[in-house]
Amino acid sequence: MQNRIVHLIDADPSETRINVEGWIRTKRDSKNFCFFEINDGSCLKNLQVILDKSTSELSEVITHISTGASVTFTGILVESPGKNQKVELQAEDVILHGEAPADTYPLQKKRHSLEFLREIAHLRPRTNTISAVARVRNSLSFAIHSYFQEKEFIYVHTPIVSASDAEGAGEMFQVTTLPLDDIPKDNGVVDYSKDFFGKPANLTVSGQLEAEIYAMALKNVYTFGPTFRAENSNTARHLAEFWMIEPEMAFCTLEGDMAVAEEFLKYIFNYVLNHCEADMAFFNKWVQKGVADGLKEVVDKPFIHLPYTDAIKELTSTKKEFEFPVSWGADLQSEHEKFLTEEVFKAPVIVTDYPKEIKAFYMKLNDDEKTVRAMDVLVPRLGEIIGGSEREYRYDVLTRRLDELGLDPKDYWWYLDLRKYGSVPHAGFGLGFDRVVQYVTGMQNIRDVIPFPRTVHNAEF
Ligand code: 4AD
Ligand code: MG
Repeated sequence: MQNRIVHLIDADPSETRINVEGWIRTKRDSKNFCFFEINDGSCLKNLQVILDKSTSELSEVITHISTGASVTFTGILVESPGKNQKVELQAEDVILHGEAPADTYPLQKKRHSLEFLREIAHLRPRTNTISAVARVRNSLSFAIHSYFQEKEFIYVHTPIVSASDAEGAGEMFQVTTLPLDDIPKDNGVVDYSKDFFGKPANLTVSGQLEAEIYAMALKNVYTFGPTFRAENSNTARHLAEFWMIEPEMAFCTLEGDMAVAEEFLKYIFNYVLNHCEADMAFFNKWVQKGVADGLKEVVDKPFIHLPYTDAIKELTSTKKEFEFPVSWGADLQSEHEKFLTEEVFKAPVIVTDYPKEIKAFYMKLNDDEKTVRAMDVLVPRLGEIIGGSEREYRYDVLTRRLDELGLDPKDYWWYLDLRKYGSVPHAGFGLGFDRVVQYVTGMQNIRDVIPFPRTVHNAEF
C-alpha cells in the first residue's frame, strides 16, 4: 500500500529497493535507456521510470511493453534531473503481467472525446479525467458520511424494492417475476397474487418515506443509496439510476432544513477542496475553467432564500426571453434556475413555498392553502441539486391531500399511522449525488460522473 504512486512522487530519494505496480501511460525509447510513465490510479501524476537497457537482459520483454500494459517495476527512487518531477524510479527489473497490443488498445496517448470514452466504459477509468472523477466521487461520499456522523445522524438502509410510490409521480420500474409473454390474468386484469411479492412492486424512487419512519424514532437519520426513475428525460443531468442522500429530521421545520442543507453542502465542498487538491486543480484548468475557485466562493457566501412567488417576479420582470414561458403555477425549468443563480444572484438560491400542484403529496401545506413548505437548492451551471420540504405531519390535512391527488390512502396506511401516533413537525431533503459530483468537477454530462450510467435505451456494462 505505501508504494502507491501518490506517495512516491513526493517521497525523498532512497536506496531502499521498492516495487511499483501499475499501467503504462507512455513509453519512450532511446539507445541505452527506456523511459516510462506509469500510473496506478492513486493520483493524476505518473511516476517516471527509467530503465537501463544496455546492462539488463530485459530488452526482449521491453519490446512487449506499450501503453496500457500492466507491469511491476523494481528499483530505487532517485532525484530526477527533469523539472517536472522531484524523483523518478531507476528500475533494474520489470515484470510484464499483461500486454496491451498497440494495434487494438483503444486508449492511445491522444485525447479522446468523452462521448467515445462512454462507449468504452470498461477502459475509461484509466484516463486522467475519469480517474479524477472517481477519486472526487469517493471523497465526496466519504465527506457526506463524515458530516452526518459528526452531527450524530443515524445511517438507515431503506429498501430498494418497494411497494409504494414515494414521489406519487408514477415514474417507476416495475419488479416482477411474472412471464412477460404469458401474464396470468383474472378477468382481464393482471393476477399479482401469482407474482413474487404477491402484489405490484417497483424499484424505489426515494427512500424518504421509510426514512421518515426512522426519524420518528431516532430523530435524525439519513440514507445514501441508489434510486431509480423511469422518466424519459434524455438530458445531461438525468439518470435512470442515480444515488441520493436523504436526511430526515424530527422536531424540525423548513428553516432548520434549509440551514442543514446549506451547512452540509459547504462542508462537502470544503472537504473536496482540501482533500482533492490536484484533481480539483485539473478540473479547474481543463474541464470547467474556474470551477474550484467558484466553489471556494460558494463556501464563503450565504445562500439566497427566495420564495417561489418572488422567483416568478424576477423571471417575469426581466427582458430575457425564455424557451419555456413563466407564470405563477408553472414549474421552474433548467433555464430559469440558471438565470436566477447565474445572472440575478450569482450564488446558490434556495427557492421555497412552491405551488402545491407542482410538488409531491407529502409536503406541508401553507396557511394560504396554495403553496407548500418546499425548498429546492439551485446552483449555478446545473440548477436543482437538492429537493426537500417540511412534511405534512397533520393527519387530517394529509388524508385530504391524498384524496385531492387521487392517491389511495390504503397504499399509505403506515405513512398515515406515523401521523396518528406521536406525530411531530419534521423535514428533510434529497441531494442528488451524481449531480453534486457533476457540480463539483464541472463535468458537462452526468453520464461521465457515474461509472456505468443507465439512461433511456442504455444499460451497457
Ligand atoms: O427532488 P427530488 O425528486 O426529491 C425527492 O426525491 C425527495 N424524496 C427528497 C427528500 O425530500 N427526501 O430528488 C432529489 C434530488 C434532486 O434535487 C436531484 O438532485 C436528484 O435528486 N435527482 C436526480 N439526479 C439524477 N437523475 C435524475 N433522474 C434525478 N432525479 C432527481
Ligand atoms: Mg425535485
